[in-house]
Amino acid sequence: MIIAIVNSKGGVGKSTLAVHLAGWLSEQGYSVTLADCDSQGSSSVWVAEAVPNVNAVRLTTPNEILNQLPTLEGEADFVIADGPGSNSETSRALLLRADFAIVPCKASMLEVRALAQATEVLRQAQDIREGIPEAKIVLSMVGANYRLTRDMKEAAAALDLRVAKTAIVLRQVYADAPGQRALVWGLGARGREAGTEIRSLFRELLAERKVKKKRRAKAPGRRPARKKG
Ligand SMILES: Nc1ncnc2c1ncn2[C@@H]1O[C@H](COP(=O)(O)OP(=O)(O)OP(=O)(O)O)[C@@H](O)[C@H]1O
Ligand SMILES: [Mg+2]
Repeated sequence: MIIAIVNSKGGVGKSTLAVHLAGWLSEQGYSVTLADCDSQGSSSVWVAEAVPNVNAVRLTTPNEILNQLPTLEGEADFVIADGPGSNSETSRALLLRADFAIVPCKASMLEVRALAQATEVLRQAQDIREGIPEAKIVLSMVGANYRLTRDMKEAAAALDLRVAKTAIVLRQVYADAPGQRALVWGLGARGREAGTEIRSLFRELLAERKVKKKRRAKAPGRRPARKKG
């Protein structure tokens, strides 16, 4: 399964979600590849340091994405693709291959208003592929007492997008984790609340996808064997 984390808006939490999702799936015993599709290359560096069991690859052009994602999918249970902050051709290529798209979105009025534009390539892919990839908005960097506002609900409904029940709160520990070469749940008491919320988000997202394992889960800690040729 290929899960793409996309939003043409920059700085909304794509890489943070991608690295944590890859790490969480790996801890569940799945073989996971993180495809870093952002030319900045930050998530592949972070995942290599924080979760060495995850196979990290960089795919920086639309052609690389279209050509290589199917092979990577055949080699791992999950490919988590971290999308770029602006390049829509890269996002388009990703969405033509993805099975499921996670769209992190800040909950501010400006971001909500920009949602139609930020998800345009997603709708084009869904139109071409008859509804695939299914997509879900994840509200990110919300206040601790955030409640889904009517504006947000209406904006999402107008675009035929669903919003995950679990939101990711603005917490300093998320911003500190890459510098610590860790995931938030590896940072002890500081990361406990963040770890609980982000893992419950992943359980929610994957439960609804009814994920079938393509191959038997491997024992945690084992790298997937790479195919030759
Ligand atoms: N829930 C959060 N709370 C606080 N800081 C966060 C949170 N999520 C992400 N950040 C921080 O916000 C910044 C942007 O996050 P991230 O890099 O994950 O976004 P992105 O969408 O991948 O950005 P880009 O479009 O540039 O690739 C980073 O400094 C990150 O550490
Ligand atoms: Mg990023």
